[in-house]
Parts: sequence; structure tokens; C-alpha cells
Amino acid sequence: MTSDKTKHTTTDAGIPVSSDEHSLSVGPDGPIVLHDHYLMEQMAAFNREMIPDRQPHAKGSGAFGHFQVTHDVSQYTKADFLQPGKHTEMLARFSTVAGESGSPDTWRDPRGFSLKFYTEEGNFDMVGNNTPVFFVRDPLKFQHFIHSQKRRADNGLRDHDMQWDFWTLSPQSAHQVTWLMGDRGIPASWRHERLFQPYLYVGER
Ligand code: HEM
Repeated sequence: MTSDKTKHTTTDAGIPVSSDEHSLSVGPDGPIVLHDHYLMEQMAAFNREMIPDRQPHAKGSGAFGHFQVTHDVSQYTKADFLQPGKHTEMLARFSTVAGESGSPDTWRDPRGFSLKFYTEEGNFDMVGNNTPVFFVRDPLKFQHFIHSQKRRADNGLRDHDMQWDFWTLSPQSAHQVTWLMGDRGIPASWRHERLFQPYLYVGER
């Protein structure tokens, strides 16, 4: 941590440290001591600084913007943020599904989109994909499904046998697999994605 006032490196408690170059040692060439608490603090923070990846939809990008209601839909909803003319700050995020953080945006994969509306009645989150069908109906199969698409823990590689074992042994996934293996699996850009929301279909079906 650097204190703006002093421009010295400080500990997490804000105490200026005597050196960022040398640990506390017994004499110039002696052993390093355990009571060098700044060194301990550095190592403890270092071991814990990694944020584990989310499982699905780990890789994404988005933009903040605003949402404005342009037509009168008040006959369908009483939600305050959907009343005529209402203006709401929001965030839109586009994601791949199986790719880990740092994976290419271009991988064959369904694409997700999520919208967060910061409404005056609280945050309203909505998710969707760019396909109108899905691999599984039963959420109990979702964990096995996602694992089958991810890199293996033992060799760090994705495994086509594992992927296709899941799909062929879960025939309900066949419809979504055909969408995935078509052009929908490699959209040219975010602008070329057609977006489907699980219950409310957004846009053209
Ligand atoms: C069995 C069905 C499903 C299960 C169990 C499931 C579960 C999950 C989980 C656990 C996450 C990660 C949440 C996190 O780490 O914070 C996620 C994210 C997401 N899911 Fe699903 N999902 C299912 C189906 C769907 C469907 C049908 C859609 C869209 C049509 C969808 C769209 C998304 C999106 C877009 C995200 C990422 C949201 C973001 O950008 O933050 N999911 N889902």
C-alpha cells in the first residue's frame, strides 16, 4: 500500500515500511526472521490474491449505459422502471460459456448476455443466451454438463471425448448442439448476436 501523503510504501495498517528491498535479517548475511511482519504480510496477501474463475460465463465484457422506455407497456407491468419515459442506469455484459478468463472471444460456444438495471426499486438482473433452446432441462445435470466442456484438472486441456460423451448420453442436448455447431456458435460480433431470454424472448425468435 502506498500512502499518498508520504509517498512511502506502508503496511496494510498504514505504517511506513523501512524497506521494500530487504527483509529483516540477523546481520547482513544472516537468516531472515519470522517477526518481519511486513514480509509475512506480503507473502500472506500474495498467496490469497488470486480470484478463482467463475464456472460458466467466466469470460465477458460489457458496457455501462442507460435504458429508456420509449413505448407505453404499462398495461403489462407495474414495474416502476418500465413505465413510459422512465430512464434507468444499467450495465450490459456479453460472455462466452465454457471459456475460462483469458480464453479467446472467438471460441465456438453459446454466447450469454446479462443486463443489470439499477432501478429505484432495487437492482433487476436479467440473463439470456443467443440460442432459444438449451442443453439440459434439469439443473442437476448442469454441473456435469459444464465440467464436460471445461479443461481437465489433470492436464489442463479440453477433452472432446468428455464433451461428446455428455452430449451423446444426454440426447435432450441434441437440438442445442445443432445450434452450437452452426454459425450461431461463432458469432461475428456482439452486434450479430440474436438474444433470447429464458422466459421473455427479447427480439425476434
Ligand atoms: C439448468 C439450467 C441452468 C443453470 C443451472 C445455470 C447456472 C448458472 C450459473 C451457476 C451461472 C454462474 C453464476 C455466477 O458464477 O455468478 C450462470 C451464469 C449465466 N447463465 Fe446460466 N444456468 C442455466 C441455464 C441458463 C440459460 C437457459 C440461460 C440463457 C438462456 C443462461 C444464461 C446465463 C448467463 C448469461 C450467465 C452469465 C451472467 C453474467 O453475465 O453475469 N443460463 N448460470
